[in-house]
Amino acid sequence: MAKLLVGNWKMNGLKASLAEASLIAASAAAAKSHAIQLAICPPATLLASLSEAVSGTGLLTGAQDCHEKVSGAHTGDISAAMIQDAGGYFVIVGHSERRADHHETSAVVRAKAQAGLDAGLVPIICVGETRAEREAGQAEAIVLGQVDGSVPDTFPAEGLVIAYEPVWAIGTGLVPSAVDVAAMHRAIHQRLVDRFGSAGASVRLLYGGSVNGGNAGELLHLDHVDGALVGGASLTADGFLKILHAIQE
Ligand code: PGA
Repeated sequence: MAKLLVGNWKMNGLKASLAEASLIAASAAAAKSHAIQLAICPPATLLASLSEAVSGTGLLTGAQDCHEKVSGAHTGDISAAMIQDAGGYFVIVGHSERRADHHETSAVVRAKAQAGLDAGLVPIICVGETRAEREAGQAEAIVLGQVDGSVPDTFPAEGLVIAYEPVWAIGTGLVPSAVDVAAMHRAIHQRLVDRFGSAGASVRLLYGGSVNGGNAGELLHLDHVDGALVGGASLTADGFLKILHAIQE
């Protein structure tokens, strides 16, 4: 399975940021020769222009959320078909910032993932425990519960991605131990195989939360860690490509 490095720009980026994406795109072909796929999920305002700017380079793009409905009276929302129309390949759903800021439950996340699949996108479903949940010894139960509730019943082989992102590791510089990351990824993989068989085994599992050029080498070589979802370090080509170089070695 090719490794997948996805940059999540969150609410960052103006037109000037397209230059960073173009610098990242210039490394996409070399990454591919090392079986590494690169993607950037910019804010919705930049998705069409960024997708056009990097078209043909091998750098994929995606959105950070979608509405669960196809169209209609939902002011301010964006449908999966619009993302596809703007050149997107992925759609991130259920990021912990959306689960927290917009009260998105796993049922809502599942409906959004389904909408993404229906539009031909590859959903990246985010799951992860809070610090309090980990300290209470509940991390695995919480995460597997989110996996159960957020993953639709059917999806094409390799057509779904899950990102394990401990909430306490996002944007904090804190990263779980390699042992803890490996254990969680093994548990998620097993849960998906139990429910979906070989299709479950084809789901790529990303780690996310304070990934940078210094820790990516160790994290991304763990079993069942098929790539990373990167926030802060993806905002500059320099930061993102440091991660690429760390895992290419
Ligand atoms: P971070 O964000 O890399 O800045 O911790 C990761 C994410 O939220 O996807």
